[in-house]
Amino acid sequence: MKLIRELRTRYRTQIYNSGYRLSGSLDGYPLPPRKLLQLVIGSGEVAWFQLGGLFMHQTISTLLRRHQRPIESFSSILDFGCGCGRILRWWAALKDRCDIWGCDYNPVLVNWCRRNLGDIASFAVNDADPPLDFPSGAFEFVYSYSVLTHLSTERQQPWIAELTRVVARRGLLLLTVHGLRCAWRSGFSTDELRRLNEEGVVAFMEERSGSNDCAAYHSEGYMRGLCALGLELVAYVPGGVRDGSEQDLYLYRRV
Ligand SMILES: C[S@@+](CC[C@H](N)C(=O)[O-])C[C@H]1O[C@@H](n2cnc3c(N)ncnc32)[C@H](O)[C@@H]1O
Repeated sequence: MKLIRELRTRYRTQIYNSGYRLSGSLDGYPLPPRKLLQLVIGSGEVAWFQLGGLFMHQTISTLLRRHQRPIESFSSILDFGCGCGRILRWWAALKDRCDIWGCDYNPVLVNWCRRNLGDIASFAVNDADPPLDFPSGAFEFVYSYSVLTHLSTERQQPWIAELTRVVARRGLLLLTVHGLRCAWRSGFSTDELRRLNEEGVVAFMEERSGSNDCAAYHSEGYMRGLCALGLELVAYVPGGVRDGSEQDLYLYRRV
């Protein structure tokens, strides 16, 4: 039964994707193979990959513009946990005036990016735990879309501290997390909601930290508490990621 369901999904996805595979991507760059799409977005659907990435590009651009730091004003950007460049590929117009980097702990994804998006950005493989191989304050803007959402509880604070380290003074850090909205949607019990409120982070399948099987949820209190690391909260957009995931968006400034 499971096999039949899987074959059906695969067949349907192939039909959905056929337009993109025939006419090419919306941005002119190569599209990742189904296996890589599955790894980063949990689906082999190209439309989800392309439109989700475009949507995040627009959301980030709009948010930054609203806070008087348009994306064009940065001379260095890091996409932490870049996957196969779903968002990063939309920054192609910046490539001549900005030092763009993507990093991920999965070398397969990074190698795909190097081969296919190498004219937009440089790419690095990092370890599952900090540090990153970048000097302190190396980037004016760092963003990480749906990465904390897949890390075990014990990896949260070290990674957030490390991302803070590589942001330049007065630079910006944008993080997305599964907040209360996602917890409700995932059917959290009253007990789990209480834990989220008390502990700040609740993670499932932590032994699979880094993969999409591990799902972590963050309370607003926990994310506001990051100010103790030398950040100030510039914007909080609950459910701000309207690509279907409804993750919360937090934009910080490094003080
Ligand atoms: C849900 S995917 C999101 C990928 C990408 N940000 C996007 O929006 O398409 C999570 C990504 O985080 C990466 N990741 C998980 N643990 C990581 C770590 N410790 N360091 C860097 N990347 C990590 C995974 O390899 C994967 O590419």
